[in-house]
Amino acid sequence: MTIPRTLGTPLSPSATKVMLLGSGELGKEVIIALQRLGVEVIAVDRYPNAPGHQVAHRAHVIDMTDGAALSALIALEKPDLVVPEIEAIATETLVALEDAGRITCIPTARAALLTMNREGIRRLAAEELGLPTSPYRFASSLDELEQACSAVGFPCVVKPVMSSSGKGQSKLDGDFDVAAAWEHAASGSRVDAGRVIAEGFIDFDYEITLLTVRSLGADGAVETAFCEPIGHKQVQGDYVESWQPHPMSPVALERSQEIAHKVTENLGGCGVFGVELFVKGDTVWFSEVSPRPHDTGMVTMITQVQSEFELHAKAVLGLPVDVRLRAPGASAVIYGQVDAAGIAFEGVADALRVPGTDLRLFGKPESFARRRMGVALATADDIGTARQRALEAAARVKPVTR
Ligand SMILES: Nc1ncnc2c1ncn2[C@@H]1O[C@H](COP(=O)(O)OP(=O)(O)OP(=O)(O)O)[C@@H](O)[C@H]1O
Ligand SMILES: [Mg+2]
Repeated sequence: MTIPRTLGTPLSPSATKVMLLGSGELGKEVIIALQRLGVEVIAVDRYPNAPGHQVAHRAHVIDMTDGAALSALIALEKPDLVVPEIEAIATETLVALEDAGRITCIPTARAALLTMNREGIRRLAAEELGLPTSPYRFASSLDELEQACSAVGFPCVVKPVMSSSGKGQSKLDGDFDVAAAWEHAASGSRVDAGRVIAEGFIDFDYEITLLTVRSLGADGAVETAFCEPIGHKQVQGDYVESWQPHPMSPVALERSQEIAHKVTENLGGCGVFGVELFVKGDTVWFSEVSPRPHDTGMVTMITQVQSEFELHAKAVLGLPVDVRLRAPGASAVIYGQVDAAGIAFEGVADALRVPGTDLRLFGKPESFARRRMGVALATADDIGTARQRALEAAARVKPVTR
């Protein structure tokens, strides 16, 4: 891992250059944080005018799953750091470039490779690190899936090994559902790898994201810090609300931090990780981890002294971080509600009249009914009030076509 030791002047020979692979709403905020430190930022996405493109020094549109295209762009721009913001990237290419000493990938190319495929990260967590997870089996055919589901038992959850935001996922109550789940997985998979995971359903009390930050200490050694736990609500595998701090028993919090420490230490490098955990009483299960800021962590833009995006920007540059909470708060997603390009938003002023609120509109060029177009943020003295405020503010924003 080579972290830039000085920060240069953008657009000059001394520039410190960072390339974001993926420039959605999370990338946009990382870019803004990097811009504030005078970093030259190159934003890459698969479509023009992605949110992060609009705030970077340069923007590129490529298919990031195309290894040759990715490698050619890296050769052209010669970034000091390559920062993946999404999972769907030719991660084998990143590993090869990193092995050849041609890039520094955040946090490591291996972390990007392992976490883009549920099989990679699950086998690492459960089989190598011995972390508690739901029972699971992998399957590459309907026959294998039938066996896998009966081995893990019902209810269970079937997911393509390569998918995110709940795409292609089904919850199964009995073996009559298996064929439909296999079909659904094939349709929702990012790359139809024809491979799925069947996981035993965990009847958790709540689920959290534990943002874990690996950064360099004064002695140059990596230090691990934990943000306050973030609670969240998922609908069809997609986050709709999050809040921080989620109350936890001291034992459950300690176990969560132990799990997060082990998995992030193995993945290595510096930056923010979103460790997803299920909790029931004092029992904690590891679910998955993003080696980058997490969507549920958008709440930190209002709750923390440094948002997860500022933490990521600082950590990847080898700078110290501050994970302190400023105030309890919540976030609520604003969906597009309509399928149209160039939509407008009514009610923004009304939304901001809800006490303690703020708003982000991502500037995505095209809206879909279930596309995340913005987020409402709120603080309050307690998370209950903060959630109500964020939901109220989000509801006041009305996407309209012009
Ligand atoms: N084994 C399980 N038991 C109970 N609930 C589950 C299980 N697996 C997933 N879920 C529920 O579905 C949600 C999405 O699952 P998961 O995080 O694995 O998928 P994802 O598509 O990667 O989602 P994202 O990319 O948004 O994090 C979880 O946050 C949880 O609410
Ligand atoms: Mg998840």
